[in-house]
Amino acid sequence: MSKRNWAVLGVVAGALAVQGGAGDGPPEGMPLPSYTQDGALRRPQGYESWMYVGASIGLSYAGNTTGKPPGLFHNVYMQREAFEHYRRTGRFPEKTMLALALHEPRQKESINRDGYFQGDLEALEIALKDSERYPDGWAYYDFGSGDGLKSTSTPFSKDRCFNCHRQNGEDDNVFVQFYPILRQVRAARAKSSRGD
Ligand code: HEC
Repeated sequence: MSKRNWAVLGVVAGALAVQGGAGDGPPEGMPLPSYTQDGALRRPQGYESWMYVGASIGLSYAGNTTGKPPGLFHNVYMQREAFEHYRRTGRFPEKTMLALALHEPRQKESINRDGYFQGDLEALEIALKDSERYPDGWAYYDFGSGDGLKSTSTPFSKDRCFNCHRQNGEDDNVFVQFYPILRQVRAARAKSSRGD
């Protein structure tokens, strides 16, 4: 093979490595996941101060809505540094964590007459991108509910969480289509790459 062809091959292999391999490293200063010696994830602390990327209410994907309307509030946060990286590059860096905090709906307290406000935390789930540990990139954890939040958690099997996220999440397993702030970033990037 000529020198030039080797060079082309190198570029292609490099591009493939970025696409399918370990991806972008974690940005400096980002809160990182912490694991116990036997590989369980410690519950991330302070997710409430991460970037708030979206909220929905009563979103159900199992088809069997539990409980009465309006269903639970779903609040989604991610590390601020991961968000900035996504905004800059259009990619979620390694060690990105998205926290899904589910809150019960409450109403008719204090001066409230109509509508719903968020009550107590019902459950906390985490999506974590860590290709060093998980060859497919993402793993999914549940830290239980309310006062009973667990301090550590082990990932679910792929058929419980990963497969649906891989098939239906709009960008790299993440349900960007449901989070206005990420949707906006994605739309702006698509627009500028079209040169509009
Ligand atoms: C049938 C599809 C489906 C399955 C199975 C599923 N999810 Fe999700 N997940 C969603 C959808 C849709 C959202 C969008 C936001 C929401 O629910 O509020 C989501 C959002 C999330 C988020 C927020 C970050 C993101 O990736 O968008 C986390 C964390 C999460 N799910 C955890 C889990 C865990 C843990 C499991 C397994 C116990 C699981 N999911 C199983 C559909 C699914």
